[in-house]
Amino acid sequence: MMETKRLFSGIQPTGNIHLGNYLGAVHQWVQLQDTCDAIFCVVDLHAITVAHDPDALRKNVMEMVRVYLAAGIDQQKSLMFVQSHVRAHTELCWILNCTAARMGDMEKMTQFKDKSHKGGAERASVGLFDYPVLMAADILLYDAVIVPVGEDQVQHVELARTLARRFNKKFGDVFTIPEVQLTTEGKRIMSLTDPEKKMSKSASSELSYIAMMDDAETVRKKIRKAVTDSGEEIVYRDDKPALKNLINIYALLSDMTTDEVERKFIGKRYGDFKNDLAEIVIEFLMPFQEKMQKIENNEVQKILENGAQKANEIAERKMLCVRKSIGLL
Ligand code: TYM
Repeated sequence: MMETKRLFSGIQPTGNIHLGNYLGAVHQWVQLQDTCDAIFCVVDLHAITVAHDPDALRKNVMEMVRVYLAAGIDQQKSLMFVQSHVRAHTELCWILNCTAARMGDMEKMTQFKDKSHKGGAERASVGLFDYPVLMAADILLYDAVIVPVGEDQVQHVELARTLARRFNKKFGDVFTIPEVQLTTEGKRIMSLTDPEKKMSKSASSELSYIAMMDDAETVRKKIRKAVTDSGEEIVYRDDKPALKNLINIYALLSDMTTDEVERKFIGKRYGDFKNDLAEIVIEFLMPFQEKMQKIENNEVQKILENGAQKANEIAERKMLCVRKSIGLL
């Protein structure tokens, strides 16, 4: 019998989860949980690498689990837990810091450069710099093979591969080498106001992203105002990045190919396409939000307690090997 592959992925509970997070990650998780041994984490320790509000963090962690559940992550099939409930993540992060990660690797990480750009690297937390090592610890603790992420996280998964190989070479065959798993169209959902930038909640304008909690009117307004390229035809081409992005969103949410979307809109105008797209997004978001609202805090608490217990068992087993391999008594 073929062994089911372990999958691990996570999202930061920073509030305002958007369509980019959904299409780049959660959308494929829901399908993958049927064929993989899936673990989904709410990575709260990553969320404190930048300034945060404790009350908001508490609320956002609970909300993120409700997002997972409303999107279709099934607790019968998948394990869900909060990163800080398993202490081994920080312990392994430290061990990898010392035994496998090199300053040379870390200085190449583009996300640190982007994220620390605004306030200057001198003012960024050491945690923000070290964040990819914590992410490597998340993945390696569970022997994950499949790590489904959007394009912006690929460099970090590659670092996890490097650290695992380097550690294994020095201390024996301790870690499984993970693989990156990217969707084709969802891997990089772009900003609605600037198709050169990825959709992100930290963007200066709220018009640039569709939040999973946006109401119908807000969605219509954001899509109406989304930039489009010059021309009139609805075509999926690299020289029309704004349109390409909107067609991608359309295709992913309606389970069509981008060719089918193009064909559907032959002879139609941008306005027609945008009106239809807004309705497709609303048809997806409204039932999603209803489901989310029905999920009680008690249910979330129970899922997290159960998740923490099971995740701790797996992680602790791995930590016994790790500690032993590096000579800790
Ligand atoms: P985070 O919280 O920034 O994003 C969560 C997931 O959403 C994807 N994503 C996007 N995909 C397509 N288009 C976009 N515009 C877009 N914006 C975000 C991200 O690629 C990601 O898959 N460090 C990670 C979380 C993490 C993790 C892990 C992931 C921590 N440990 C272990 C996998 C495995 C992060 O900050 O993602």
